[in-house]
Amino acid sequence: MAELGKATPEELKGIASAFQVYGDFVGGCPYGSGHINDTYQITYSVGGAKMHYLLQRINHHVFTQPQNVQQNILRVTRHIAAKLRAQGVEDISRRTLTLILTREGEPVHHDDAGNWWRMYVFVEGAKTYDQIQSAHQAELVGEAFADFQNMVSDLTDPRLHETIPHFHDTVRRFETLQQAIQKDAFNRAKDVREEIAFVEARSDTFGRLLERCAKGEIPERVTHNDTKLNNVMLDDATGRGICVIDLDTVMPGLALYDFGDMCRTSTANAAEDERDLSKVYSRMDMFEALAKGYCRGAKFLTAGEKEELAFSARLITMTIGIRFLTDYLQGDVYFNVKRPGHNVDRCRTQLKMVRSMEEQAEQMEAIVKAALATV
Ligand SMILES: Nc1ncnc2c1ncn2[C@@H]1O[C@H](COP(=O)(O)OP(=O)(O)O)[C@@H](O)[C@H]1O
Ligand SMILES: [Mg+2]
Repeated sequence: MAELGKATPEELKGIASAFQVYGDFVGGCPYGSGHINDTYQITYSVGGAKMHYLLQRINHHVFTQPQNVQQNILRVTRHIAAKLRAQGVEDISRRTLTLILTREGEPVHHDDAGNWWRMYVFVEGAKTYDQIQSAHQAELVGEAFADFQNMVSDLTDPRLHETIPHFHDTVRRFETLQQAIQKDAFNRAKDVREEIAFVEARSDTFGRLLERCAKGEIPERVTHNDTKLNNVMLDDATGRGICVIDLDTVMPGLALYDFGDMCRTSTANAAEDERDLSKVYSRMDMFEALAKGYCRGAKFLTAGEKEELAFSARLITMTIGIRFLTDYLQGDVYFNVKRPGHNVDRCRTQLKMVRSMEEQAEQMEAIVKAALATV
């Protein structure tokens, strides 16, 4: 995936002026550790007071229809703000992302170079974490994403744009993997025979959630679809998850995908590209905390969804593993790689996580049951 070059402060000044911000531009610099978009913190002096904004260049290689992404985000954030207002919440602009519109009143700015930009109110006094710090934090993250799902659960008419179709469709992802194996354009299949066999041995479970969805046992909902730890802002003072961010992939989906992806990222004991696989496993203390927080917030779960919570963690982890494996076979075209074999390393951690979750499957089921019993 082509990386977008960094914008200079002079360029940022011009871009920021397209939005409804007032006062004097002071500066702009790259911000955060996101991998998809190109993020900047912009500083303005407004009547002598310093104000920050968050300016993002949308990755239009990944999101090919930025206007649809922005329409979704505008609807979602306005909907959440209205709910918070009705609840009497006072610090709404810290509790949901707030888009700053362009001077033409649009939620996105298209610049002369063909880039798409958006601007948000900067959430002060809170930050995101790449590595989980404690089980308590996992609980708060689980609850924050559940609250988010809860607040957008009635945002169904009209259906949100499906900005990346079939995003979590494991069967399709597996078909793409099989095509990549058959083509083997870079003669790499020989390096990953074991990984391919591991995936193939489990392929009969890949359609389980979508089949149950088709039967009406699991509903389609509005979901976040990128429920990584670092997409929740935690309050510096209280540690609480105050604001769910990174809303590009909010679209119709399954709540279970969101829960599963939380488990994949927040229960992992090591980095996504750790090479020492003995360090890679799913931590049950984290899973327990996450399940507790999520179940407390996700009061809407149906019986079908409750039955698949533990399974969803394995399925989503497998799906990401399949995507890394496919990208390796296709010559590393989607995920940025920093070293040869980087995608294989990432694939191996995911498959090791799947194995770890399989080994602890009974315990995971018991944890889910206990978490559901307390709400
Ligand atoms: N409104 C905001 N206020 C303050 N910080 C933000 C805001 N939005 C995003 N960030 C910071 O920028 C980082 C990257 O933003 P994100 O939308 O998650 O981009 P990516 O899609 O690249 O992950 C986040 O992890 C967070 O630390
Ligand atoms: Mg992010």
